[in-house]
Amino acid sequence: MNKKILLSGVKPTGRPHIGNYFGAMKQFVELQDSYNSYIFIADLHALTSVQNKDELRENILGVLLDYLAIGLDPEKVTLYKQSDVPQVTELTWILNCLTTVPYLSRAHAYKDAIANGKEPSVGLFDYPILMAADIIIQDADVVPVGQDQKQHIEIARDMAQKFNSTFGDTFKLPDSLILENLATIPGTDGRKMSKSYGNTIELFATDEEISRSVMSIVTDSSGEKPENVYAIHALLKDKESLDKLYEEKKGQYKELKEVLIEDLKKFITPMREKRVELAKDKKSVLEVLKAGSDKARARAEKKMEEVREKVGLKLS
Ligand code: ADP
Ligand code: TRP
Repeated sequence: MNKKILLSGVKPTGRPHIGNYFGAMKQFVELQDSYNSYIFIADLHALTSVQNKDELRENILGVLLDYLAIGLDPEKVTLYKQSDVPQVTELTWILNCLTTVPYLSRAHAYKDAIANGKEPSVGLFDYPILMAADIIIQDADVVPVGQDQKQHIEIARDMAQKFNSTFGDTFKLPDSLILENLATIPGTDGRKMSKSYGNTIELFATDEEISRSVMSIVTDSSGEKPENVYAIHALLKDKESLDKLYEEKKGQYKELKEVLIEDLKKFITPMREKRVELAKDKKSVLEVLKAGSDKARARAEKKMEEVREKVGLKLS
């Protein structure tokens, strides 16, 4: 049976948190048996915000270790680095020429940057087109992402359609795969958990870091239960046992936090230890990446030969 193609990526912009994991990364692991998966490190996208050589290099290796530590199996999944597939940037240029400025000006990330008084780079403006190229060059059927990436997948569909109608049928139209019932995971301050707010519980936190983060979760004493503690706890326990626990310990916010700390430790410790082990053998880890990148690049090149021919860039 021919499996469908799944593709997704994570930007190497800093340490991942449990919001990233439950919102997006966990699905990569759960779906690795049912799909032919391509999971990559979006290092070119990271350049829109990380402009420091040592930091970027460390973050790229970091995402690779994260992928392996959460349980992605290189035997099943092609793990690669975006910049190892230069065909992606070649396709980005061709797609750029099929895109209008008003169309891209409606993208959320760009509009938010403008609304926040920032002066966006051309790279930030073009971010969705680079992402479209990532997706369609590998003929992806489905793209698992968090809610906030939905518009980007729609743009990728539009670009595939635009190319097909201009030059003839070439690209598949990808679908997003979004955990619809997963609410945005709150951070320790009650806002969306996000690297940019400094309110995260890190996915590979040490025991002390877990305790410190959980103890800092803001609780509202007017409610029935500490909502933010409960929302994070709900990621780790089924609803029935959780409701029982919160009923038994009604009003005992400190005790409830202590249970959450223990549950987080149980969940995080094995992954953190695996990550430490993997980091000791950098050579093998980099070999995994090279093999994946070689495979992804060969596929992309095959697709680009077709594209160059259809566009008229190829003479013979
Ligand atoms: P951050 O906001 O911390 O910078 P990213 O924008 O890098 O996170 O998000 C990476 C992925 O993780 C995206 O697919 C996003 O939807 C998901 N994600 C990030 N934060 C959360 C959250 N608080 N709840 C659910 N999913 C999240
Ligand atoms: N923009 C995505 C994020 O911030 C990362 C990404 C880049 C991506 N290219 C992609 C995700 C292609 C899925 C498919 O999370």
